[in-house]
Amino acid sequence: MNTESEYNEKSYSYYDKLFADSPHKPVMPRETLEFIGEKTGELKVIDATVGCGGHSSLILMKYPEAVLLGLDRDEKALEFAKTKLSAASGRFRLMKSRFSEIRARATDMGWLSVDAVLMDLGVSSLQLDDPSRGFSHNFDGPLDMRMGLDSENTAARILNTSSEKDLKRIFREFGEIRKAGRLAREIVARREKMRWTSTLELAELCWNIPGISRRKGPPPPTLCFQALRMAVNNEMFELKKALEDAAEILAPGGIIAVISFHSLEDRVVKLFFRKEASTCLCPPDFPECRCGHKPSLEIVTKKPVTPMQDEIEKNRRAAPAKMRIARKL
Ligand SMILES: C[S@@+](CC[C@H](N)C(=O)[O-])C[C@H]1O[C@@H](n2cnc3c(N)ncnc32)[C@H](O)[C@@H]1O
Repeated sequence: MNTESEYNEKSYSYYDKLFADSPHKPVMPRETLEFIGEKTGELKVIDATVGCGGHSSLILMKYPEAVLLGLDRDEKALEFAKTKLSAASGRFRLMKSRFSEIRARATDMGWLSVDAVLMDLGVSSLQLDDPSRGFSHNFDGPLDMRMGLDSENTAARILNTSSEKDLKRIFREFGEIRKAGRLAREIVARREKMRWTSTLELAELCWNIPGISRRKGPPPPTLCFQALRMAVNNEMFELKKALEDAAEILAPGGIIAVISFHSLEDRVVKLFFRKEASTCLCPPDFPECRCGHKPSLEIVTKKPVTPMQDEIEKNRRAAPAKMRIARKL
């Protein structure tokens, strides 16, 4: 077992070694260990995106009396998490679930309220680095992109059946792509001759549309793949519903931390925390408050927490991460 001084070790190398054999390195491990704060006694924690169990394993090590519920919609990730957490056997349960169902899963545990909720959004390296999942434009694979393999919708289905208007909306809304209309048009035009099946074919189309990405922005296919993944997995709905329900099941003083990887997600988290922390939701031109809104959260991080340089040097995928934390009033 690790000692308390090791948890507080400031060098990222310690955590890098701890997860050297894991298919996914948990982002901001030091910061995640601190979000719950100095609590003693029994703690009920939900890791709503347990993934390969990285963050959960750290939480269970730091808080010996914590009981943790880990959720993920990906069965393969849950298998890794089960092994990773085995040292804390009896103190965790894993459930295959979408995090929009967080309230029902807490009820399944017999929990009326919880002390902490963690959400580490997006996909894990386990998913991203597996060509058969179709998340990466760097490998050839099927246009799948489902986080949960029991879901029916795939990227190929969206590309082969959606109208040009719907495709344009997906690329503009979820990818903020500048040439969303042109990309949608070309996808539909190619459908006349072929069915969309391969990640590299889609990536090639993106590379061939000039100006799809801003100068110095991400590689052209990145935003297109992000947009499709978000549509396939209904990610915006999932996030909004989970934030609302997680905030409701937090006990007074309970903490929620959300790690996001792009501006669309971060904006949703920021606005949700701001709304829940607000004493009034009336339009700004109302002379006096008529809504009677009662704040339910206190914002802990006025600015998002971001990874330190020593982590980014060892894990490039951590670079865009932003963590926002709020406390239940
Ligand atoms: C960035 S990874 C989390 C990694 C994890 N924190 C760790 O340390 O291993 C995100 C995980 O969330 C899962 N996920 C994303 N959206 C989800 C949703 N709506 N419901 C349940 N799981 C979701 C993905 O399947 C993935 O395993």
